[in-house]
Amino acid sequence: MNNQNQPKVAIIIFGATGDLAKRKLFPSIYRLVKNKKIGENFVVFGTARRSWSNEEFRDKVKQSITDKNSSEIDLDAFVSHFYYHPSDVTNSSSYLEMEALLQDLEGIYQTEGNRIFYLAMSPEFFGDITNSLNDNGMKNGGGWTRLVIEKPFGNDLPSARKLNHEIRAAFKEEQIYRIDHYLGKEMVQNIEVIRFANGIFEHLWNNRFIANIQVTSSEEIGVEDRASYYDQSGAVRDMMQNHMLQMVALLAMEPPIKLTSEEIRSEKLKVLRALRKIENVDDNFVRGQYGEGPDYPIAYQQEAPALAKSNTETFVAGKIMIDNYRWAGVPFYIRTGKRMSKKSTQIIVEFKSIPMNLYYKDKKEQHPNLLVINISPNEGITLYLNAKKSGTENEAIPIKLTYDYNQINAANSPEAYEKLLYDCMIGDTTNFTHWDEVALTWEYVDPILKKWESTPAEFPNYKAGSMGPEASEELLKEDGFHWW
Ligand code: BG6
Repeated sequence: MNNQNQPKVAIIIFGATGDLAKRKLFPSIYRLVKNKKIGENFVVFGTARRSWSNEEFRDKVKQSITDKNSSEIDLDAFVSHFYYHPSDVTNSSSYLEMEALLQDLEGIYQTEGNRIFYLAMSPEFFGDITNSLNDNGMKNGGGWTRLVIEKPFGNDLPSARKLNHEIRAAFKEEQIYRIDHYLGKEMVQNIEVIRFANGIFEHLWNNRFIANIQVTSSEEIGVEDRASYYDQSGAVRDMMQNHMLQMVALLAMEPPIKLTSEEIRSEKLKVLRALRKIENVDDNFVRGQYGEGPDYPIAYQQEAPALAKSNTETFVAGKIMIDNYRWAGVPFYIRTGKRMSKKSTQIIVEFKSIPMNLYYKDKKEQHPNLLVINISPNEGITLYLNAKKSGTENEAIPIKLTYDYNQINAANSPEAYEKLLYDCMIGDTTNFTHWDEVALTWEYVDPILKKWESTPAEFPNYKAGSMGPEASEELLKEDGFHWW
């Protein structure tokens, strides 16, 4: 069944034999079909170096779909839309072959020449690929053309600029969809709604009433089989420059005048421009690398032979200041790392305490109001208030009001990639990263990278399975706060 609102599209995946395609892209396309977001008019054209046949490719796609409710017939019908052609991305004859095949498929699936080129592979080839798409006419399918790019977008500001320059030689900014999958998460998108649809928060959302904001994204996993990528990257490039700073921007931005991509982006950019330049890195940022821990006998440096003596951080915590009228004086603390005690992404907004609280005999027990936004794995919101301790006359205890998104929406919460792919099909750039954001976030983190790469650290400095190095606790203690 096809209806007018279902986008018609050919998705060309470079790096189709890779991990991202298998773990995220194929299952997301499957869910889009299952949820009737796309109908019959789509085709997926995979390419990579390996010489797979269509059948082999379809088998891999099938294996990637873990939905227990899908029947063999459904799956066969779904994978029949998938085609594979081996290519050498540095050789222009590959593009000519692909163009010819693609034109045939576009005729069969009636996709109206709309094309999404999805670069799910090593960024060193991005420039070559975009140029070749341009030179070999693949950009002109007769419909719209969009380019989706995975992170990392560069290594630092100069390399990101160079990459952007190469890509922009072939594609216009409005055709480029830079993925930050955190922006596709349901609860990250909910930050704006919670803020801008609730008077009780928005009126208090400033330096008069908020003491600090904490954003933590901890992971239990180590580097797994990504050692060669991760050791070149580290926590600052892998998580902070993109996901963490994007969440900070959404938490700190002014209300947009309209819910359009341009207006929202313009507010986020103002925040990124107001980030206080980092002058003394080690006063505000803490790096860590995991050693062995009680449940994890392997330290980072033992994960692969090339990691022995590595100076790469697997953890970063930091204090970010935003020099604008709303946030002057309010620290935004961020923390993220591998091999921490649990997998969790959480935002905690700590409100200032009232000047005099008569209901706590011991001041230390006094609990500030907290708004907790759980991004993952549990999606939900909790508000900590103080209420009367029953059975006493004038004593208070902290109580929690909790809304658990997962219980309410369970199976319906769409995966980030599914949403982002769909947004790209309908031409909505709101939840993608514009070049200006990329440039400002690299500009912000570059001094950290420079300092840490030029000074060896005493690693390892935190136990696998812990919440990071002691210095991360000290960072907040100095300001009279602690991580919640
Ligand atoms: C990716 C990083 O961008 O985000 C990974 O490259 C990290 O290292 C992942 O594991 C975390 O994403 P999520 O959605 O599991 O929090």
